[in-house]
Amino acid sequence: MATKRTVNLPGTTDRRVDALLTLLAENTTIVISGAKIAKEIGVSRQQVWRWIEKLRLLGVRVKGHPRTGYHIERVPDILVPQMLSHRLYGTPFARRILHFFKVDSTNSVAMRLGEEGEPHGTLVLAEEQTAGRGRAGRSWSSEKSAGIYCSILLRPPIPPAHAPLLTLVAGLAARDAAAEDLDALPDIRWPNDLLIGGRKFCGILTEMHAEPDRVHHAVVGIGINVNHAKMPADLAATATSLRIETGKSHSRLELLIRLLRHFDRYYNQFLESGAPPILRRFAQVSSYYEGKRVRITTATEGFTGTTAGLEPSGVLRVSRDDGRGIEPVLSGDVAEVS
Ligand code: BTN
Repeated sequence: MATKRTVNLPGTTDRRVDALLTLLAENTTIVISGAKIAKEIGVSRQQVWRWIEKLRLLGVRVKGHPRTGYHIERVPDILVPQMLSHRLYGTPFARRILHFFKVDSTNSVAMRLGEEGEPHGTLVLAEEQTAGRGRAGRSWSSEKSAGIYCSILLRPPIPPAHAPLLTLVAGLAARDAAAEDLDALPDIRWPNDLLIGGRKFCGILTEMHAEPDRVHHAVVGIGINVNHAKMPADLAATATSLRIETGKSHSRLELLIRLLRHFDRYYNQFLESGAPPILRRFAQVSSYYEGKRVRITTATEGFTGTTAGLEPSGVLRVSRDDGRGIEPVLSGDVAEVS
């Protein structure tokens, strides 16, 4: 399909701020004069000063001032496109990366971009979401620069019935990426919650625009609690972050790069070989695959049972306690019961 390039999407981070950050990040050991920065990125020295002040407000530790020059001590953990794109080379995600310091929801932006013909692989990232969305109409708490808030626009050549497998692909990718930051292996609660010690640190919201026989576009939105020092009081019993679990900060940039590389690998495997390798991997890494006692809550009912594997479409099979046999669960909440 023909694609239209949206060059300056309102609200996205100015490419020259991105260039400024990248320049500083690539020269962490030296002081660069304001004049040199201004010349390299094509703005006035006053503008450089104003942007440096803005970055400081966002927690980037920039030393120096306009007379002597500037430097940063370490690469800032901000997910701007220039820092990401060369690390994503060879994947479809390197070409079109949109970054916001603040946005309502990266999924909402990516769905709109999908309507407007933006290409497969477009990434939408935000430091903060003011209306982050979760499954079943819930909200997603999106503290500034503490988590990863990422939406991937896909144009998968699959029928809508296979779309749940995209969620499994994303869950497996996030699980492999996060495992490197953790001492214990994370679990996946079907379809897409990543858990450590029974508490959730990552959720996935897949939305799509489909016709009866094909997916027009799909958006896979991934939220990961990374460097939250504590979770909001109403979530603390059920949610956690990588930092809470390990007692140290983690690089969001490195985690996101690993996530997207794993996503690319599982997605290609899915397109080439279909569902079987994805289902096999899910069976290996999720304690919810089979034999787990669960309570299922769907839009219409609640029941208890024992998980009994996945259907080829990714739907969960649950053997009901009430003797009504195996129930295929297309969507709903899954909770462990003892
Ligand atoms: C869930 O577990 O309920 C799904 C949470 C998905 C949150 C992510 S954060 C990035 C993207 N933008 C959103 O508004 N939601 C998803």
